[in-house]
Amino acid sequence: MEVYFETSTKIMNIIDAMNNRYATKKFDADKKISQEDLDTILNSINLSPTSYGLQLFKVYRVTDPELRKQLTPASWGQSQIEDASELLVFANRTSYDEANIDEYMDRISIERSVPKENLTGYADFMKSKLSEMSDLHFGVWTSRQPYIALGNAMTVAATLGIDSCPIEGFEPEKYSDILNIADSGFKPVVVMALGYRSEEDATQHAPKVRRPIGDLVKSL
Ligand SMILES: Cc1cc2nc3c(=O)[nH]c(=O)nc-3n(C[C@H](O)[C@H](O)[C@H](O)COP(=O)(O)O)c2cc1C
Repeated sequence: MEVYFETSTKIMNIIDAMNNRYATKKFDADKKISQEDLDTILNSINLSPTSYGLQLFKVYRVTDPELRKQLTPASWGQSQIEDASELLVFANRTSYDEANIDEYMDRISIERSVPKENLTGYADFMKSKLSEMSDLHFGVWTSRQPYIALGNAMTVAATLGIDSCPIEGFEPEKYSDILNIADSGFKPVVVMALGYRSEEDATQHAPKVRRPIGDLVKSL
């Protein structure tokens, strides 16, 4: 049998949480996430790695029930949009803007007490790499990165006993219009519903369906 990790207590807890996590189809609309837990989940998003550390995405937290109602038909009618305690819309930057690199250099300079002149080489390297991308290439590249944050947020939520559903079943253009972000330079790419499962959600009892780990991971 192939063994891939030591079964330390800590890892087992995380694996237990991941086994308990499932893409929640029906949330209990009356159960709300505490501010403290929400802050932890949002922090896990902010602490997630991104290419170069640029964080070229935004997370829209949709709290207005009226907006949620409008988003439902643009989300294949999925009930999670209105019933979940929290709805986070991850949106990636659609085109290159040199200013984003300069802002990032400003943050590094402050947080690490480095003179900005010392960062010029790094900034110029990033600028040369990113400016040569077409908008299409840039958009594909930036759209991948929110998924890393989404994955971390789902695992962190699971360790807190909070349920979630990642949602790609929605129409990004309609979301942009409803959320009034069409001219923001960000495009919705994936949605995360967070809350507590409804007792009526039969999906929670379904055994996990996964490939054998030896088929997924090949040692070479
Ligand atoms: C990027 C992504 C998009 C998804 N979109 C939806 C969705 O729109 N609606 C939904 O109910 N589940 C969605 N899912 C959930 C998957 O169907 C689910 O994760 C998969 O079947 C495995 O089941 P489990 O997560 O319950 O273990 C999505 C999952 C991912 C990773």
